[in-house]
Amino acid sequence: MGRRNGCIRASRPGVILDRMRRTDRDSPARRSAAMTPSENRLIDSFGRVHNNLRISVTDRCNIRCVYCMPETVEFLPRASLLSYEEIARFVRVAAGLGIDKIRLTGGEPLVRKDLPKLVETIAAIDGIRDVGLTTNGILLAPMAKALWDAGLRRINVSLDTMDPAKFLELTRRTGFEQVIEGILAAKAAGFDPVKINAVAIKGVTEDDVVPLARFSREHGLELRFIEYMPLDAGNAWERGKVLFAAEILEILSSRIGPLAPDPKHDPRAPAMEYDFLDGVGRVGMIASVSRPFCMSCNRVRLTADGKLRNCLFALDETDVRSLIRSGATDEAIASALRESVAGKWEGHEINTARFIKPERLMHSIGG
Ligand code: 5AD
Ligand code: SF4
Repeated sequence: MGRRNGCIRASRPGVILDRMRRTDRDSPARRSAAMTPSENRLIDSFGRVHNNLRISVTDRCNIRCVYCMPETVEFLPRASLLSYEEIARFVRVAAGLGIDKIRLTGGEPLVRKDLPKLVETIAAIDGIRDVGLTTNGILLAPMAKALWDAGLRRINVSLDTMDPAKFLELTRRTGFEQVIEGILAAKAAGFDPVKINAVAIKGVTEDDVVPLARFSREHGLELRFIEYMPLDAGNAWERGKVLFAAEILEILSSRIGPLAPDPKHDPRAPAMEYDFLDGVGRVGMIASVSRPFCMSCNRVRLTADGKLRNCLFALDETDVRSLIRSGATDEAIASALRESVAGKWEGHEINTARFIKPERLMHSIGG
């Protein structure tokens, strides 16, 4: 168990009941997980019900975003990746504990062979009601239709700039045109909305805010800005380098037009949604640094090499792959998942001196 984890749980027992009242009541997670007997549900010591599993299918990527991956990186050997059968088995077990929402991530998930096959298998698992994908979009255009046909319904494409030269600088690779084609192909295949994820870095991406918003408004895409988080390879992150949600809203409202917070906004959702008052488009802010949403977190993560992480910033992992490969029963796998969630800490503490950066980098966690 991690240092921060033990410390918080030991020192803040008084908040637990209060949190349970606030987070467990009426949440969509609770409603859909209601089918699962309560003793089986994934509820942590702060009362957070977990129904959302993010699965990284590979740590490989066909680009090298500066805020995510080093230029040269040693990838996991292929044999250490969970096979699709192993992933599906884990999802079946997790679905029995109330997991009903899956997101496939990477690295870049579309570099893994036959991804639509995995989508199809997962979408058919009893209890799974939603399968999503986060991709950099480079390989998306020729695959969008197959992914839709396999049952994928949510898609997020990472794109930080509308300037091809800046794209090259930020990703250290070419591919801007393919990403745009991928986004448009996803729309044409039926994905609605297609979401665009843009990382917000001070002194780097301010000039991209308006062009990204214009492009999104023009094509009916939902743009979301993600505050730069300390999971970068080069250890370049500092609080002063985060372009905060409030600053982005200021840029958008002064340069494009006024925005209003979505009145139907669920305060527990990671993204705060804003609508342009002229009725054209909406923008989401994932303010992980300026407005941490840990207290409403409903996510667990499985890495490509089969390690379970109960937080993006977790310092400890549970080795599910060894369990699966040593012939563990479904019940043993379920217990490991329950224990991992039960041991979850209160939150990431990015804004405090206690913050410890995890060793694993973003590309091998999956965001
Ligand atoms: N900070 C914030 N977001 C990041 N992403 C990758 N690295 C970082 C970081 N250091 C984003 C990607 C992708 C999502 C999974 O996470 O751009 O959209
Ligand atoms: Fe690849 Fe995504 Fe990391 Fe960029 S953010 S290098 S697209 S894994």
